[in-house]
Amino acid sequence: MISFGIETSCDETSVAFVEDAVKIKVNLISSQVKIHQEYGGVVPEIASRKHLENINVLIDQALEQTGISWDQVDLISATKGPGLVGALLVGVAAAKSLSVALDLPLIGVNHLVAHVYANFLEHPDLRFPFLALIVSGGHTCLVEMKEHFSWKTLGATRDDAAGEAFDKVARILDLGYPGGPVIDQLAKKGDPEKIRFPRSYLEPDSLGFSYSGLKTSVMNAQKRGDLKGFRIEDIAASFQEAVVDPLVEKTRRAVLKTGIKQVLLAGGVACNSRLRERLKQASEKFDFALYYPSPKLCTDNAAMIACAGSFLYQKGVREDLGMDVIPQLEGFLN
Ligand code: KG4
Ligand code: ZN
Repeated sequence: MISFGIETSCDETSVAFVEDAVKIKVNLISSQVKIHQEYGGVVPEIASRKHLENINVLIDQALEQTGISWDQVDLISATKGPGLVGALLVGVAAAKSLSVALDLPLIGVNHLVAHVYANFLEHPDLRFPFLALIVSGGHTCLVEMKEHFSWKTLGATRDDAAGEAFDKVARILDLGYPGGPVIDQLAKKGDPEKIRFPRSYLEPDSLGFSYSGLKTSVMNAQKRGDLKGFRIEDIAASFQEAVVDPLVEKTRRAVLKTGIKQVLLAGGVACNSRLRERLKQASEKFDFALYYPSPKLCTDNAAMIACAGSFLYQKGVREDLGMDVIPQLEGFLN
């Protein structure tokens, strides 16, 4: 079974062919980061236009690089949300066109779910149940999954997402966009104990998150000039530690509370080297198995869309041409 996947929810145009749900034949990603960097963040209109310019070129390249012909393909999967409406529309329109022209089933995929499914691409033997910690630019949540496409949210952020905190703090510190990778690199040469930024753990039994207080604290410290005299590496490491601490602690609490001993890390912030390191330590100390995809599969890519699309297809899910984009998609299955 070959699934063709399209991802255009934010600033990466990506297409992929995935065989038997988990084998990547090709996963092409055209990043617009350099274009948006000039503006300090993603400009939605520019993102849509770039997706439009890129999508057909990438599709042609994917066909050429794999030698796959359309008559070998079984389904077309595309991200239908959450994401930027204009950006999503480009991918969904392309998927609908292919579906009609080739008479292939169309599957709409929840982008967040797909981030979790990226783990199957490298750990195809994964078995339910597991917990997933999803940490991306737009979302931060802990979910419990007992079977395919059935999840229970254990906790989510009440304000900013972890990735958003990285991006906003990088902007406050004048480090450019996107903030996560830059802060990660600087933090490697910094002391995480140098400055004590606030951690938000919420109520004692809460599995939720809150990052706006941390962001405000960095902003106020910067405005007051309190950060003068500190090395940028130490500021980055201290801030990063304040993001990572609650993620690790809530994951530990979720393992204890549910008794589920497998944790999957997902989303762009799952690239963060300190988060990976701290969760690895926690997994050894508290005896749970930890899985995370390699960095290329943590950030936005179409292989994870084609993968989740294949599992939805196996479950009998189909969309028709009425399929719409859902920028605020919070539900699960589709
Ligand atoms: O999952 P993703 O590619 O897009 C969304 O679905 O939101 O995540 C992008 C986010 C950005 O906020 C970016 O700063 C963050 O992931 N990110 C990182 C790292 N690499 C990307 N955050 C921390 N450390 C990293 N190494
Ligand atoms: Zn994403």
